[in-house]
Parts: sequence; structure tokens; C-alpha cells
Amino acid sequence: MVSGMSQSHPRISKAVIPAAGLGTRFLPATKATPKEMLPVVDKPAIQYVVEEAVSAGLDDVLMVTGRNKRPLEDHFDRNYELESALQKKGDAGRLAKVQESSDLATMHYVRQGDPKGLGHAVLCAAPHVGHEPFAVLLGDDLIDPRDPLLQRMIDVQQQHGGSVIALMEVAPEQIHLYGSAAVEATADSDVVKIGGLVEKPAPEDAPSNYAIIGRYVLDPAVFDILRKTEPGRGGEIQLTDALQQLVADEKVGGPVHGVVFKGRRYDTGDRGDYLRAIVRLACEREDLGPDFRTWLHRYVTEEMQQR
Ligand code: UTP
Repeated sequence: MVSGMSQSHPRISKAVIPAAGLGTRFLPATKATPKEMLPVVDKPAIQYVVEEAVSAGLDDVLMVTGRNKRPLEDHFDRNYELESALQKKGDAGRLAKVQESSDLATMHYVRQGDPKGLGHAVLCAAPHVGHEPFAVLLGDDLIDPRDPLLQRMIDVQQQHGGSVIALMEVAPEQIHLYGSAAVEATADSDVVKIGGLVEKPAPEDAPSNYAIIGRYVLDPAVFDILRKTEPGRGGEIQLTDALQQLVADEKVGGPVHGVVFKGRRYDTGDRGDYLRAIVRLACEREDLGPDFRTWLHRYVTEEMQQR
């Protein structure tokens, strides 16, 4: 039987987090530090992503890392020196914060070597994932923890089999920054059937304003396709090109559906979005929010008056 067409769809337990990109949009901060380690308030962006995987029931996490990515591995490991210093001080609150990230999930790592594109990064996960469907969460794409998306995608995959991608409606002048999907409605208002995918199209070539965002639940048939996928846009092996092959031939890996996301999402690899993520999440924090909101209100009022 074709893997994606099985009636009892295997349970999804593995998450793959590609985090081996160069992060050139954030230079010079990312010269020696992975962009995924940049703090969003007081937690590195990548910790939110791992927490999201764990909240959706995926506690086997494979991170695809590259050069300069040691801090990622260290962050999810124990830090005995820091722990014993905090223990001696009796600082249980901060000790818990240090231990939080190392206790989250079973972490695995694979190195990508050359960053040949997102499709190539996903292919590096093939030996770990094996023949099960799996989730992919981009390490620089932050979905607000109050707007769960991945669990809904997993439910849709368990219902239909095949693969599921996440879509978000964007303004027509923004679509050239994303992959764009041709879609057909289904009985569920937040679920569409994918009819075609194009990576970063010119606005006049975009099949819709539905942009692909950084969450995927994929049938393992994608690995064989990625092995044969030639470099595409930007000279990189594009995941969107491989997904288009899945869409073109349902017999290979089952259907491809999209879940339309209407919640809050931040691309922490983009400087403007990164700043918005920090302000928004800081405003809503119980400990920091009240003071920060008062200051922000005063600051914005003064700024407006000066214009
Ligand atoms: P981006 O498109 O944001 O590329 O990658 P980038 O190289 O990281 O950043 P810029 O554009 O130069 O600033 C999307 C996701 O795919 C991962 C990145 O780490 C990020 O999570 N990625 C990208 C890889 O793991 N390997 C690659 O070869 C490319």
C-alpha cells in the first residue's frame, strides 16, 4: 500500500527543526551566533519552537544544525556549573529556568554541512525519521503559543493521510517573499486541498495570496523526491519544489492539504518582525507587561507629539 494512503495513519511522534541557515538578514548579530538563539524577551527564539512541538505531543526532536550552531546544542543540554552555583545560592526560581530547556524533549542533532537550502536540510533528517510521517517546524518561525497550529495540522493529517502544510493569507505585494499555493475549499472552513505550489512567485504568477509558513506535517515519501530535487530558486534545494511533486502525483505520498492559520506569527529572522515579537510578547507577560506597557504608551505618545 502507498504510504500516504494508508487508512490507519501512523501516529506522529517526531519533529524536525531546520536551523542551519546563514541568517544573512540579521548580520552582524548572526556572524558568530545562530539567529535562532536571539532572545525573544528572555528566551531564545528556538526554545519557543521546541516548546510548540512538545505541546503538540512531539517529544522526539531532531535539530538540523550547521556551522556556528554549538550554542543551540548547549542550550538544550545541562549546565552543571550554573546549576550548582544557583543551588548554592538557593535560587530555585532561576535554577528552574536553567533546567527548563534541558528537560523539555529528547533532543537529537544532525549537521547539514553546506546550507544548500531548506529541502536539503529536511533531507538530512531522513535516517532519523525513517518511514513515519513527521512534523517540520522552521527554527526562525515563531507561532504565538496562544494560537496553536501544529496540533490542528496533525489532526488533519490523521484524518486525511498524506501531507499537511500551513498557510496564511498575505497582502498581494507580500506573496513574492513566500511559497504560494493554489487551493480548493473542503468541508472544513480552515482546511483546503492543495492543487499546486510555487516558490516566491512574481505577484502576477502567484496562484493565490495563501503563503506557505514554517510548519509542515510530511509523508516520508518526500525524502525520495528530495533526493532527486535539483537546486531551484536562489540555487537552493527548495522544499516547496519537492512538495509540488507530492501535489502533482497523489499516488506517491497521498494528498496534500493546507491548514489556514489566522493567529499571530513572527518571522524572527526578519528584523522588523523580530522587534514586533518582542514588544508583543513582553506586553503580555505577567511579570514584565504592566511596567513595559506603561513605558511603551508614554514613549509612543511622546514620539507622535514630536512628529
Ligand atoms: P531562511 O529562508 O530564513 O534562510 O531559512 P536563512 O539562510 O536561514 O536566513 P537569511 O535569509 O540568510 O537571513 C528558513 C529556515 O530554514 C533553515 C533556516 O535555519 C531557517 O530555519 N535552513 C535554510 C536550513 O536549515 N538550511 C538551509 O540550507 C537553509
